[in-house]
Amino acid sequence: MRVLETERLLLKPIEAEDLNFLMQLRWNADIVEHIIHSPISSRTQQQWYENVIKSGDLVLSIFYKDEKDKTKITLIGTIGLYDFNYRHQRATLKSMRILPEYQGKNIGLEATDLLMDYGFNVLNLNKICCDLFEDNVARLKGLIKLGFKKEGTLRKHYFHNGKFKDAAIYSLLRTDYNKIKKKF
Ligand SMILES: CC(C)(COP(=O)(O)OP(=O)(O)OC[C@H]1O[C@@H](n2cnc3c(N)ncnc32)[C@H](O)[C@@H]1OP(=O)(O)O)[C@@H](O)C(=O)NCCC(=O)NCCS
Repeated sequence: MRVLETERLLLKPIEAEDLNFLMQLRWNADIVEHIIHSPISSRTQQQWYENVIKSGDLVLSIFYKDEKDKTKITLIGTIGLYDFNYRHQRATLKSMRILPEYQGKNIGLEATDLLMDYGFNVLNLNKICCDLFEDNVARLKGLIKLGFKKEGTLRKHYFHNGKFKDAAIYSLLRTDYNKIKKKF
């Protein structure tokens, strides 16, 4: 796999040594407000990682490069493509999480852009799907800037923090992405 990199970000396949960070994200109140989560043990986290390797899902760790010394990197989030369907050339975008102190800098947008470029123009996907809570404004804004279009709403689809919540279904086609690419 080629390295996915921008001036300030480096995306690499998740390693066993990143799993503790993943556990930290799972216990971060700001993050779990917007995602489905369950408290899990480190043993279950390890099993999840082993399944990722077997399944061929592409889960990436997002590193932020130090402004003065670009070789110094800090793990700040994750992003992934799951459920590859090679016949229909589709996959699902999931696991977008950025540490709260790095949010508000469009890092989520930049990481998603890198992964969409890789998915469409290297893995030869035709469509990338994503579902999210309809009220997740920060994520929606980024998806729309990249050309994602709404396909519909799944009503009261998730039970989360004591309430049933609607899920919005979005998708991006390669043709739309390549028209918009790098223009946001
Ligand atoms: C979703 C997430 C990855 C976005 O990260 P990001 O790209 O750095 O997003 P930013 O924080 O820079 O915000 C992106 C846009 O949303 C806006 N935004 C951020 N928080 C907002 C809020 N609470 N209400 C309204 N707009 C908001 C920003 O102003 C920005 O818009 P702009 O580009 O027009 O200025 C990050 O917020 C996150 O990790 N959230 C928790 C986990 C999560 O929700 N994951 C996605 C599950 S589908």
